[in-house]
Amino acid sequence: MPAQGVDINRVNAIFQEEQDRFHRQRPRSAALLEKAKYYMPNGVPCAWMDGMYLHQPFFAERGEGAYFWDVDQHKYLDMNQADLSMNCGYGPKVLVEAIKERVANGSQFLLPVEDSIDVCEKLSERYRHHLWQFTLSASSANMEAIRIARAYTEKEHVLVFGGKYHGHIDDTMGEKNQDSLGFSKDFKNKTLIVEFNDLESIENALKNNDVACIVTEPALTNIGVILPQENFFLQLRSLCDRYHCLLIIDETHTQVCAWGGLSRVWNIESDMITLGKTVAAGIPTGVYGMSQVVGEFVANHLESFDENDPRAALGGLAIGGTLFGNALSMAAAKVALTEILTKEAYEKTSRLGEYLSSGLQTLFDQHALPWLAQTLLSRSGYTFGPKHPRNSTEYYEYSDEELLNTMRVFYANRGVWEAISSAGPAVSFVMEQEQIDQYLTVVDDFLTVLKN
Ligand SMILES: Cc1ncc(COP(=O)(O)O)c(C=O)c1O
Repeated sequence: MPAQGVDINRVNAIFQEEQDRFHRQRPRSAALLEKAKYYMPNGVPCAWMDGMYLHQPFFAERGEGAYFWDVDQHKYLDMNQADLSMNCGYGPKVLVEAIKERVANGSQFLLPVEDSIDVCEKLSERYRHHLWQFTLSASSANMEAIRIARAYTEKEHVLVFGGKYHGHIDDTMGEKNQDSLGFSKDFKNKTLIVEFNDLESIENALKNNDVACIVTEPALTNIGVILPQENFFLQLRSLCDRYHCLLIIDETHTQVCAWGGLSRVWNIESDMITLGKTVAAGIPTGVYGMSQVVGEFVANHLESFDENDPRAALGGLAIGGTLFGNALSMAAAKVALTEILTKEAYEKTSRLGEYLSSGLQTLFDQHALPWLAQTLLSRSGYTFGPKHPRNSTEYYEYSDEELLNTMRVFYANRGVWEAISSAGPAVSFVMEQEQIDQYLTVVDDFLTVLKN
């Protein structure tokens, strides 16, 4: 649906002009792309780096604090922070020092290091679960959490909400992505999708008693910001208990909102919590925490090479990887959790987040656009219509891909990068009011041109 209050012809004209300018001003990226095409399909190391944008991929060179530079020496204020994975900023000194030391002393042993205990201690303080396992990404944390849920409940299905994203893993893909190639044909039959906030449909889906787990973010953050309605999680918890399925809360994105994530703010009682991205300041690390009973189940289902080990007799869980829990990830997570993701830092990003979303709302009003800004502490979202969506259907009513693509390229041409503009901007741990003002100025410029 086109955004409300906007002339689509105007959007298209701006898009064309900005797109041309974007390409004209990035000759070095264009040359690198040509060279790269021989070595990588479409010239990119990960298909997304091309697929997500209508403009040509451009190459990054370096980053510092809230900014990064491309190979054509354009400087960008990063308002999406590589989909929140770099929310701790580019090159924090404490991280650089910790990593240098760790690499110099060995970054991986296939053995535990003491830092892993410190990391668990830090995670336990904020996320309440005290039993943790590590992977290399949030996707694989979700994948392992789902495997554990299946083994624990002896059920097969996974229930997720429309508009969700939990990584490119078979069990949570579906809906819009149903046409993605490469998945086993029957994965769709195992993934149930209902609308967020719709307790009746959720209960209907659980009634067959074949759902192993519900996987959800506390608020959906991949389609703007969709908040849970009052008592939604309280009721979800009791449904999970009634139908014996696990509640897996994915805080991969929402960990940037508050110390302890939104689970803590809203007192959500999960069976498992999954994280990645910022948890180790962008150094590849995935984490999942679990309740005491789930942890005991994991401890008692060990893949063991010792035939006499009673834990192996019960069957071993298919979890783990060579580099999972490596010393470098642990050092990075320890320094991020201790020195960067502190309570005081969250207080500051929340304040700036409020400033950001109220600034956006003021601009929408000034430009007579019937749009709404959404606040989620340090995160903002927006909807191009007059009401906040409660689920994905309502979100798609006012989502406008053409407008989002136009905004992204317009901003990029003016030194602001929003990799995933549909998500809405986020305040990072290295931002000050100056950066928010810079962002709001570019938004203002865009709306002025749009309404011209
Ligand atoms: C909520 C959520 N969970 C998990 C993931 C997967 O993260 P990664 O791609 O780093 O594995 C994402 C990625 O955007 C996400 O948004």
